[in-house]
Amino acid sequence: MSLKKKYKVKFVSPKLRAPEEIPYEILADGPKVQELEEAVAEYLGAKHVIATSSGTMALYTVFRGLGLRLANIAMPAYTWRSTAETAIMAGAKPTFFDIDETLCLDVEVITSHKFCDYICVNDCFGCPADYENLKASGISFFSDSASAFGAKYRGKKLGSEGIHCFSLSPTKNLTANEGGLIVCDDIAFAREFKLIRRWAGRMTEFNAACALEGLKYLDETLIRKKEIAFRYRKFAIGQGWQVQEVPGDRETTWKDIIIILPSMQERDGLQYHLEVAGIETRVYFTPAPKFLEDGQYYAGDLTKTKNIQKRSLCLPCWVGVDQEYVIQVMQEFCKLSKNPPRRAKKSLQLHG
Ligand SMILES: Cc1ncc(COP(=O)(O)O)c(C=O)c1O
Repeated sequence: MSLKKKYKVKFVSPKLRAPEEIPYEILADGPKVQELEEAVAEYLGAKHVIATSSGTMALYTVFRGLGLRLANIAMPAYTWRSTAETAIMAGAKPTFFDIDETLCLDVEVITSHKFCDYICVNDCFGCPADYENLKASGISFFSDSASAFGAKYRGKKLGSEGIHCFSLSPTKNLTANEGGLIVCDDIAFAREFKLIRRWAGRMTEFNAACALEGLKYLDETLIRKKEIAFRYRKFAIGQGWQVQEVPGDRETTWKDIIIILPSMQERDGLQYHLEVAGIETRVYFTPAPKFLEDGQYYAGDLTKTKNIQKRSLCLPCWVGVDQEYVIQVMQEFCKLSKNPPRRAKKSLQLHG
């Protein structure tokens, strides 16, 4: 039985740069992990870097290390479920708020809210959150920057200040096969995170060596992804579709390229049409409704989040995707605009 459906154009096809040799005297948390931490610190201009077994474990380690048990954590409802799950695992209470056109947390809606002891933002699909307003809010915060390794806010790479958690999973621009990173500017927190990492999720030497290889090509990858994003977005805007807004003072990583169709029916129709043509797409993110169904957690007005969740579609843009693939996808868009679909897929795929 095949594990994965066959697509001509896959959404993700990991480009793992396997290292030539790995010193196997120590299997985890050894010299390669240290080398990766140092290389990342240099690349980002960061003070302290702690490598973990995944982005999820990086988040959990930070929630625990900051001592946020019983705290109300304001977070965007539009994020991958790890953001909320790890808060709950660490004994904190997520409270969900709406997003703005950048698809990141709308900081203005939470600043005066009583359900907010701490904020965890998501640099959505690699686009930095609204850091100016976050700082102005006076509320402490840290960032789920899972997709934002290499992103910049006002010319500075994310990670050069504050606390950020990155993911190095197979879908990311920089992958360790599996892995995560905590980057922070405070020595006391860094020590605490290191202690927790020891039992919560060490990185293996193999994963560190893979990420070190990938780091050599990251700038090249980011440039290629920007070109792909430009082509997709130009086409989408020409069709009158909405795209994620990226303000001029922020540089995203284009980890995902998202288009927002006028209605859910049109989105489902487009996904079905592309699937029939052998092109895999994905629908991100739908964790919040799951948490909210049982009414256990507080949520503000989520009008924009719900609207985006219903109408958005992520296009294939993995690290090795080339212009030929992009042209194939756009040719299918063109066929569809001449001949709109009658049928939509019954159930959509949901992925992380
Ligand atoms: C916003 C966000 N947070 C957390 C994670 C979890 O990272 P990992 O898969 O490395 O555990 C992801 C994964 O894609 C993510 O997109």
